[in-house]
Amino acid sequence: MNSTHITPELVQAVRDASDIVDVAGGMTRLTRKGKRYEGLCPFHKEKTPSFSVDPDQGLFYCFGCGAGGDTIKLFMEHAGDDFPAAIEALAQRYGIPLPTSQTGQRAAPTKHLTAALEAAAIFFQERLETSNLARSYLDQRKITPELRQIYGLGYAPEGWDNLLRALGSRLPLDDLIAAGLVGRSQKSGEPYDRFRQRLMFPIHNPAGRLVGFGGRTLADDRAKYVNTSETEQFHKGSLLYGFHQAKRALRDNGKAVLVEGFFDVLGAAASGVDWAVAGMGTALTEDQARLLARYSDEIILAYDGDAAGEKACRRALPILLAAGLAVRRALFPSGHDPDSWRLEAGNEAVQELIANAEDAVWLEIQRQIPPASERTPVLQARAAGTIAELLGGVRNEVAREAYQRRAAEHLGVPEGALRGPRGARLYFKSIEQPTENSRPDVRTEEEKALVLLMQEDAETPHPNELPPSEVFFDPECRNIYAAFCDLYIGGNRQAPTGAEVIAKLSDEGNAIDRAARLLLEESDSGEEGVSDTLGKLLHRWRKQHQAELMRQIRQAQQQGDDELLTQLLEEKKALSRTLHPSMTGKVW
Ligand code: UTP
Ligand code: MN
Repeated sequence: MNSTHITPELVQAVRDASDIVDVAGGMTRLTRKGKRYEGLCPFHKEKTPSFSVDPDQGLFYCFGCGAGGDTIKLFMEHAGDDFPAAIEALAQRYGIPLPTSQTGQRAAPTKHLTAALEAAAIFFQERLETSNLARSYLDQRKITPELRQIYGLGYAPEGWDNLLRALGSRLPLDDLIAAGLVGRSQKSGEPYDRFRQRLMFPIHNPAGRLVGFGGRTLADDRAKYVNTSETEQFHKGSLLYGFHQAKRALRDNGKAVLVEGFFDVLGAAASGVDWAVAGMGTALTEDQARLLARYSDEIILAYDGDAAGEKACRRALPILLAAGLAVRRALFPSGHDPDSWRLEAGNEAVQELIANAEDAVWLEIQRQIPPASERTPVLQARAAGTIAELLGGVRNEVAREAYQRRAAEHLGVPEGALRGPRGARLYFKSIEQPTENSRPDVRTEEEKALVLLMQEDAETPHPNELPPSEVFFDPECRNIYAAFCDLYIGGNRQAPTGAEVIAKLSDEGNAIDRAARLLLEESDSGEEGVSDTLGKLLHRWRKQHQAELMRQIRQAQQQGDDELLTQLLEEKKALSRTLHPSMTGKVW
């Protein structure tokens, strides 16, 4: 069997047949706790169980690391499979017959892209074996054959059609193009190899599927590195190079080293630090930070020791903090990155710098504090504001207060000066993720509304009375709400269950974790009913609209644009009529 056709019927059959307690029980020892089961989380290291399985809803959630979802997601995350692979494996496990695709019929495009990428990876690896240039380059950079193997390194030879000639007869040209391996000349329309005379780094997604390549020039190409262009599966902002290889170590150590480039991942591994990962040459994204946070608690930034590296660290810091990670910084000598420092000073030197990495928040606070000789109230106030904003992002309260005390003392201001500004606090709260000590009372209004909607005995408003999804500002909550509404309005008009909403969210990782948390966390959602809570969100949204309108009105007044002004005033009138429920007798 080579390509299974994943039909909705097959997915449903797998959902119906698979038993979450059985699947989770194969990963960790479960003990019964009331209606639920508990165990040590298979996704992160812990000593007391925070992994919870609810057989009634068919859902799991870890109160420690925030991973959650249904049986399929559990299986995917644990096996490192993608969705089709998990469906296939679970179908086999529960004896569900797999429809195989008929000959000639095209299977899912993902399969084709993967096949093209995998064939290319083999081609590149073979070419590395026969290229003196590439092998001596790696020798010179002290990348051992073992590392070449672990990271699947390859070589794209010089010339415009090596890959095309090698794979063109076996694979459709469209697949090579869709996989980002082959381009078409704008002038002649002729296809050509996109990677030429480059050392090739295969890039995997977090589930371990090959999704693209990075290539370093071995000629003097102006573009030192080139990545696969964005394809259906290759999104730079949510991938980390080396993650797939480091995953197990991250989970076991609870920490990760974050470096700037491909070679730094190799260099770190060569010096014994095989738990380093890199972005794709772009600034760290929230997606990447959240991915890291699911596997570790602490990040050691090991960026280049130059102004650009310093800047990149400062940019990454709030993003990592917001994902709930502790952050340290390894300070490499000026002009060096982990790879070059290994060659200059040796493996132990790299290990030592990483082991001695300093607390990144404290480093940043110190940078903000003006020297005593220049300490004026104005500079102190300015520094206090910046530090307060940074500390607003530290999610652990004890740590935050410790920083506040220490910073206040060094800066010579009262601690209170470091507790605002509210803005920064609110911002970080809105992208907050669950933590071990997250208690029901930290639930936002948006979360409360979702819990109430998804409760089985809930009195769900009529579909016509549901507010638009824009009233949810938190992107994950908005996704969950939109999925709920789609099922409710488009389906059989019965409010969907939480598990159905999760199934609908299939590919959006963090929204699934979040929904699972809301459904499994014990909580007191307060006295309010679902209509009142949704009404509040709607009210808030309208008020924001109103503020925006006011801003536009002021602007129109200043610019003397009477026509626009009249139009805006009309809009404002219409909006304020709906802002006061008492005037219409309806909530919305
Ligand atoms: P660097 O320029 O710091 O290169 O780029 P490096 O990692 O030290 O490379 P070596 O050691 O000279 O081989 C860091 C990262 O930025 C991205 C790549 O991901 C690279 O690893 N980058 C850099 C690009 O995407 N394109 C470029 O042209 C250069
Ligand atoms: Mn380098």
